[in-house]
Amino acid sequence: MVDQRIAIYPGSFDPLTLGHDDIVRRSLRLVDRVTVAIAASSTHAKDPAFSFEERVELTREVYRDEPRVEVVPFQGLLVDFARESGARLIVRGLRAVSDFEYEFQMALMNRSLWPEIEVIFMAPASNYTFLSSSLVREVAKLGGDVSGFVPPPVLRELTRVYGPAVSGG
Ligand code: PNS
Repeated sequence: MVDQRIAIYPGSFDPLTLGHDDIVRRSLRLVDRVTVAIAASSTHAKDPAFSFEERVELTREVYRDEPRVEVVPFQGLLVDFARESGARLIVRGLRAVSDFEYEFQMALMNRSLWPEIEVIFMAPASNYTFLSSSLVREVAKLGGDVSGFVPPPVLRELTRVYGPAVSGG
């Protein structure tokens, strides 16, 4: 279909949280399709919970019934991926002022690398502003209940890896 407006929502998604999902669903109000672009490597990737392949499979499962969301893995530079996908819009969630510096640096670097790219920042629902993949990983690893923070397929896999306490069981 021609002239579809596509946004790329990039990240490491280790794992995808309800905060990420909130941004995906908000983006769908603005554009026709959202490409959730899962980076093979990230500036942030410390002590991962899931492999690259697992992150892709799991995120695909989350959006299996959402035809307007596509989950695509990528390696290398985000702007190269965007250019090859024919998308000129990147969406990133901004939870707090503490996110701003890193996000602003990345946005301007990406635009230096490819001037046609635009980056928009979206605020998540206020009840997700404290949520991050790294905190979910840490809480799950230590046996805390993360059932209120991740979609069901992610909870299932975290439970498989870290045990029933993760889902409040
Ligand atoms: O979820 P994250 O870890 O905050 O996402 C960061 C991500 C994946 C968007 C960023 O590390 C990225 O774009 N990586 C791809 C490599 C790249 O283009 N690096 C230059 C960024 S200015």
